[in-house]
Amino acid sequence: MEAFIKGIPKAELHLHIEGTFEPKLMFEIAKRNGISIPFDSVEEIEKAYQFDCLQDFLDIYYQGARVLLTEQDFYDLTYSYLEKCAEQNVRHTEIMFDPQTHTERNVEFKTVISGILKACSDAEKRLGITSLLIMSFLRHLTEKEAFITLEESLPFKKHIKAVGLDSSEKGNPPSKFKHVFEASVKEGYIPLAHAGEEGDADYVWEALDILKIKRIDHGNKAMQDEKLVEEIIRRNIALTVCPLSNKALQVVPDLQNHPLKKMMNKGLKVTVNSDDPAYFGGQVNQNYLEIQKALHLSKQDIYELARNSFEYALLEEDTKRKYL
Ligand code: ADE
Ligand code: ZN
Repeated sequence: MEAFIKGIPKAELHLHIEGTFEPKLMFEIAKRNGISIPFDSVEEIEKAYQFDCLQDFLDIYYQGARVLLTEQDFYDLTYSYLEKCAEQNVRHTEIMFDPQTHTERNVEFKTVISGILKACSDAEKRLGITSLLIMSFLRHLTEKEAFITLEESLPFKKHIKAVGLDSSEKGNPPSKFKHVFEASVKEGYIPLAHAGEEGDADYVWEALDILKIKRIDHGNKAMQDEKLVEEIIRRNIALTVCPLSNKALQVVPDLQNHPLKKMMNKGLKVTVNSDDPAYFGGQVNQNYLEIQKALHLSKQDIYELARNSFEYALLEEDTKRKYL
């Protein structure tokens, strides 16, 4: 099974580039930028990665991102992730980035996106991996601040496929971002959002009906509401599920109780992803492997999950066909 999971071509559809920041690279970049971090060793950092909930994790994740300053930093971060994709037979990846995590520290939007894009372009040439970018708004900030980010993104519009919504979910419902999502769609961005990770099913309804999202990041809590499940199936919308993330952030008590197989049995279109692999104990193949073991998934299930990852990618139909 391990060889089967490793060998099958896959796409990764839910991945935060800031969440791929491995402790070793964090130390290297902190050193070259002369920034101190509150840890003395890689082991100490890894020990700190114990989370009770999403907010617990976010506090550490934003802390780590503070050392990223230059275009080279964003290049190194992204290229290092893309090399891991190559090792795992991930052929296509849709990378989320959080510009506001950096612009609020006076790192320019252009610095962030230029480093990421250069790494994506080099990886396509050298490793044959295709990628596209999803610009995520931080939901703990205001809609007005999201509008500023939208404005800053416009010179790079042709390099950004979609907008997303991430960070602290509870207390920051999708409806808070109605206008900026409308404006983003007018600019040609595809609307996506995290919904139903910690927030209840009504947040997923809002993401569908108010933000008009085309894919749901996580969506676990949709399972609370049978009508919602039916509606997601009716709209042919996929869920980008992240098993190890859900375990690490205690969205599920353990993987044996993860709803992934129940979702598939209901007819939901599910994909498997790593979310923030440096923080949650595994890259995408590890996510496939651990959820396979916990839920006794068959090779046919794995095939379906991998196939969905291309079927529900944001690629043009003719490009998609190459993978299917
Ligand atoms: N930002 C990075 N990872 C996230 C997650 N799992 N949920 C919400 N925001 C995030
Ligand atoms: Zn996420």
